[in-house]
Formats: sequence, C-alpha cells, structure tokens
Amino acid sequence: MMSCLTLLFLILVALAYWLVVTTEGTYLGTRAVVRLYDWTARHYNRIKKFGFVDEARFVGLPLARMIEDMPGARHLDVATGTGRALLALAAAGDLDATLVGVDHSQGMLLEAQRDLMDGENSQGERIQLIQGDAHDLMFADATFDAVSCLEALEFMRDTPQVVREMARVLKPGGVLLVSNRVGLEAWFLPGRHCGRGRMEALLDREGLAEINTHRWQVDYDLIWAIKPYAQ
Ligand SMILES: C[S@@+](CC[C@H](N)C(=O)[O-])C[C@H]1O[C@@H](n2cnc3c(N)ncnc32)[C@H](O)[C@@H]1O
Repeated sequence: MMSCLTLLFLILVALAYWLVVTTEGTYLGTRAVVRLYDWTARHYNRIKKFGFVDEARFVGLPLARMIEDMPGARHLDVATGTGRALLALAAAGDLDATLVGVDHSQGMLLEAQRDLMDGENSQGERIQLIQGDAHDLMFADATFDAVSCLEALEFMRDTPQVVREMARVLKPGGVLLVSNRVGLEAWFLPGRHCGRGRMEALLDREGLAEINTHRWQVDYDLIWAIKPYAQ
C-alpha cells in the first residue's frame, strides 16, 4: 500500500508540474513566467516546431492581406517571443510596413533578433524589437494598423488589461488578431479567459467589433476583431 508520505510526494510533484510546465508559471506571477521563458528561449523554436506553410497560411498571409493596401502601415506583435508572427508576416511579401515586437523576456527577444535582424535574410530596417510589459504598452493611443498576440494571453496576470492596451494602441478601423486556448488545455487554466466563447466575450466587453473565430490548432483558436470608429 502506498504510504501517506509517498502520496503527498506525488501530489507535490504533480502540483509543481502543473505550476511550472502545464501553466508555464502563470499562477506564480509575471516574473516567474518571464524567468521561465528566459531559461527556455534557446529551445523554444525547436520545441514548437513551427511549420513554414501553416504559419504563412494562418498568420502571415491573412495579416499581410489586412495591411497590404496601407503604405507605411504599422503592425505590433505583443508577447512576440521569438518573433514567430513577425517572421510569418515578413515572409508573406514585400510589404511597405514597420513591424514591431514587444516581449517581457530578453532571452526570447534575443532569439527573435537573431532570426529577424542578424541573419542574411535580415529584415532589420523595418523591424523593431522592444522589451516591455504587455499590461502597459509604451505606445501612444492609435499608433498601429494591426495588432497581434499569439499563444500568450492565457499567461498574462490580467488578460482584460492586456486586451485594453492592445485596443488602445490600435487605430480605429484597425485589426486585432489573438489566439485563444481551447479544448482540454483550457481546463488546466482556471480563472483565465480560455475556452470557446470566453475570449470573444472579453473582446466584446472591451469594445471590439466584427469578432470572428477560426479553428487553428487542436488547443488554440484564432480570433479576428476590428476596433470600431467612435460612434
Ligand atoms: C508561448 S510564448 C508565445 C510567443 C509567440 N507569440 C509565439 O506565438 O510563439 C509566450 C510569450 O509571452 C511572453 N510574455 C509573458 N508575459 C508577458 C508580459 N506580461 N508582457 C510581455 N510579454 C509577456 C513570454 O515572454 C513569451 O515570450
């Protein structure tokens, strides 16, 4: 028979796994999340195994279509990590656009810089990578034509505040693209705005319109929305 001590040990191991791996430190606070990403940044792309074709089809090309008719457009990717959305957008065509990525983790930004700005396919002249907190974006109101945030809102201390900030820096008529954790994975993140319908309700509450959800991956939907012009 399993002793009480063994049972307690197994419960603690399961709890630690949930806190650190499953929920990526989110219930331990922003500093823990950022520390974990700093530690794992060098392995992030290998773990995620992003596919060029899927990234182009679901992220790069649709975003490019939104801004291709806006010369000098500005796109912001919040919690950009290793620059996944910016890479997809940059690969989507010869856009006349400035691409800005913000992330709290210096380690993740260094990986993004290597792929976006230092290589032979450098996009350096039109890309800016900035270290900062998504809860308090360092941009003026109505700065961007498009804002994206992929696979990150569920790790934020205050998701409504991040959505509010993204809506604030978006120009009226501008487009927002976010991912939403769904399916079994969403059940492991209690208290977060995950699961079908919840993120949509949050975007609606924060004043976004034309909210459109598309199935994307097993555990993520993609949600598109527009910032309406003032009534
Ligand atoms: C799962 S990664 C997603 C990265 C990228 N968007 C992607 O799709 O590959 C989550 C990212 O959110 C960042 N992050 C977490 N909390 C943040 C915050 N409060 N402000 C800015 N970035 C944050 C982490 O540093 C990490 O790079």
